[in-house]
Amino acid sequence: MWTNTPLTERLGIRYPIIQAPMAGGATTPELVAAVAESEALGSLGGGYLSPERLQQDIAAIRQRTERPFAVNLFIPEAVTVTPEQMSRATALLQPYRDALGLPAPSSDVPPPPDFAAQMAVVLAARVPVFSFTFGLLPAVWRDRLHAVGTVLMGTATTVAEAVALEAAGIDIIVAQGSEAGGHRGTFPDTPVDRLIGTLALVPQIVDRVRVPVVAAGGIMDGRGVVAVLALGAAGAQMGTAFLACLESGAHPTYKAALLESQDTPTMLTRAFSGKDARGIANRFMTELAPHAAELPRILCRTV
Ligand SMILES: Cc1cc2nc3c(=O)[nH]c(=O)nc-3n(C[C@H](O)[C@H](O)[C@H](O)COP(=O)(O)O)c2cc1C
Repeated sequence: MWTNTPLTERLGIRYPIIQAPMAGGATTPELVAAVAESEALGSLGGGYLSPERLQQDIAAIRQRTERPFAVNLFIPEAVTVTPEQMSRATALLQPYRDALGLPAPSSDVPPPPDFAAQMAVVLAARVPVFSFTFGLLPAVWRDRLHAVGTVLMGTATTVAEAVALEAAGIDIIVAQGSEAGGHRGTFPDTPVDRLIGTLALVPQIVDRVRVPVVAAGGIMDGRGVVAVLALGAAGAQMGTAFLACLESGAHPTYKAALLESQDTPTMLTRAFSGKDARGIANRFMTELAPHAAELPRILCRTV
C-alpha cells in the first residue's frame, strides 16, 4: 500500500499524515484525539502552555484515544530585550490598543514558558512522540525521552539544520518549507532570509539524511500528500488544513477568513510574537512591516 512508509511503521499509524502542532489554542485535545482515532498522528502544540495545563491536555487526549499522538514544544532561545525596545514596540502598538479599547500593557517583559518544567511533564507522561521547533533538543532530554521510548521529531528549514538534527540523534525530521503557515522553525543562528520552498527543500534533505523526512508547508489535500511522497518524504505534516475543523480551537472569525481565502496573499511577520511567522496578510501585518527591525525578539507568555 502507498500508505505504508517508514513514518507509519515507526509511529504505528495507518496514514502518513501528521496534524501539525499549532500552539495558541487550535490543537485542542479533541482535535488531536480525533486525528489519532482516524489513524493519522495528531499533535498538541504545547509551546505556550504552563506545565499544569500541558499535563491536563495530555490527560484529556488520553481520555479520548489510546492511539499514538505527539506533543510539541519550543526550544528556548536566550534573548535580551532592552527597555528602549519595549517602549518603542509599545508605542507602535498603541494605535491598535486605542482602537480596540485595550488597557496599557504592564512594563514587565512576559516570562518565557518554563521549558524544563514543561519537559518534565512530557517525560513523566511518556508521550509516544515528542516534536520540537526553533533549534536542537538538548542531549539530556533526548536521552531521557529515548529511555522511556518516546520518538523524537525535530524541525528543519534548511539542509544544514536537518543534518544537525540527525547528528544530534533525532529520529524523524520535519522539513518545513517557506510556504508553511505559522512560525518558521528556523534555528537561532540560521539567517532569516533562507526561505526555501517545500518542493526544493524536501528532496535536498532526503538526499542528505538517513532518518525519515516529513514534508510541511503548503500541503492542503491528497494531491499534496502524494506529491511529497514522490519527493522522497515519508509523510506530510499539515497545519492550515486542520485549522477550520470542528474540533479546532481557532476563533470562528479566523476559521471564516481561512475558508473565504482563495489565493489571498500570505506574508511573513515578526509583529505578533517577535519570531518570523506566516499568516494571511492583514492591516496589522502590513502597517508594522516597515518597523520590523524595531520589534524585540521575545517569546510569548504561558497560559
Ligand atoms: C497557526 C499555526 C500555529 C503553528 N504552531 C506551531 C507550533 O507550535 N509548533 C510547531 O512545530 N509548528 C507550528 N506550526 C507550523 C506547523 O508545524 C507546520 O509547519 C505548518 O502548519 C505547515 O504549513 P501549512 O500550514 O501550510 O500546512 C504552526 C502553524 C500554524 C498555521
